[in-house]
Amino acid sequence: MKTIFSGIQPSGTLTLGNYLGALQQFVQLQDDYQCYFCIVDEHAITVPQDRLELRNNIRSLAALYLASGIDPKKSTLFIQSEVPAHTQFGWMLQSISYIGELERMTQFKDKSEGKEGVSSALLTYPALMAADILLYRTDVVPVGEDQKQHLELTRDLAQRFNNRFNDIFTIPEVRIPKVGARIMSLQEPTKKMSKSDTNEKGFISMLDKPKKIEKKIKSAVTDSEGVVKFDKENKPGVSNLLTIYSSCTGESIKTLEEKYEGRGYGDFKQGVAEAVINILKPIQEKYDALMESDELDDILDNGREKASLTANKTVAKAKKAMGLGRVIKKK
Ligand code: AQP
Repeated sequence: MKTIFSGIQPSGTLTLGNYLGALQQFVQLQDDYQCYFCIVDEHAITVPQDRLELRNNIRSLAALYLASGIDPKKSTLFIQSEVPAHTQFGWMLQSISYIGELERMTQFKDKSEGKEGVSSALLTYPALMAADILLYRTDVVPVGEDQKQHLELTRDLAQRFNNRFNDIFTIPEVRIPKVGARIMSLQEPTKKMSKSDTNEKGFISMLDKPKKIEKKIKSAVTDSEGVVKFDKENKPGVSNLLTIYSSCTGESIKTLEEKYEGRGYGDFKQGVAEAVINILKPIQEKYDALMESDELDDILDNGREKASLTANKTVAKAKKAMGLGRVIKKK
C-alpha cells in the first residue's frame, strides 16, 4: 500500500480554503493509502504565536481533522512536536539545503516582506517540511496549490540526499485537487484565503456559524457586471465563489453557470452560502462533541507512538548514511 503524508499548521482556526484544498481530499484518500496526518505545530512557531492560543489551536485542529472524517482506525493522526525525529531530521536536511533555494520560496517572500525581526526558521522551515514528508517514505503528498513549490524542494532534497549519501528516500509526488486547490480571499480575490489574514471578512472559518457565513459571503467582493460566469482574470470574485460552490456541492462550474443564468448576484450568493453551511454544519456538530471528549487524547497518544516507530527507524538510517554518531559495538 502506498503512503500519504500531509500536515496543517495550527496557526489559527482552519478556513474553508484549508478544508477544500486539503482536508476534504485527505478524507477521500484514507481508504486507498496508508495515511499520516500531522498537526505541524513547529511550523506555526516560525511566526510569533500566543502560547495559550497555540495550545488551543493544536487541540482544535486535531478535533477538526476527526470531525471532517479522518478515521483513526485507518489513518495516523499526530502532533509534530511530539515526534522529535522531525526536528532532528529537519536539521540534517538543512545541512544540505542551499540558502539561495530557500530564499526563492514565494511563501518566505510573502510572509517576510516589509517585516522586521523575521525568524531564521521562516526561511529554513521548508527543510523541516521536507523532513516531515520523507521520514515516512511518503509516495504522495496531497496539498493545496500554494505548497507546490515546497514539494518541489522536498523532491530536490530527497534526490540530493540519495545521490550524496545513500539511496534511502522515496521521491514523493504532489497531489493537487482539480477544483478547490486555491480558494481566494472573499475581500481580495486575487490573494489566497488564509487563516492568519488580519481581515476576518476575507476568510470563512470552519467554525463560523451559519449567520456569519451568510454575512461574509453576502459582502464578498464581486464586480458590477451581474453575470455569474467563471473568468478568473476578469471576474476573480465571482470565479472564486463558483469554485467554492462547486467544491462544496460537487456540481460542475458549467452546471452552476447555467443554473444562475439571468439571475443576480444576490440569488447566487445565497446559493453559495447555503452550500457552505451544508458542508460545515455536520462537521461543527461532531467537533463540539470531540472537543469535550477524552477520546481525542487517546487518538493523539496512539498516533504519536505509531508515527515515532517509523520516523525513528528512518532517522537511524539517515544518520548512518551521513556518518553521524558512533558505530555501537555488539558486546
Ligand atoms: N486558500 C487555500 N485554498 C486551498 N488550499 C489551501 N491551503 C491553505 N490555504 C488554502 C492548504 O491547506 C493545507 C494546510 O495549510 P497550512 O495551514 O499548513 O499552511 P498555509 O498553506 O500557509 O495555510 P494558511 O491558511 O494560509 O495558513 P497561514 O495563514 O498560517 O499561513 C495545505 O495543504 C495548503 O496547501
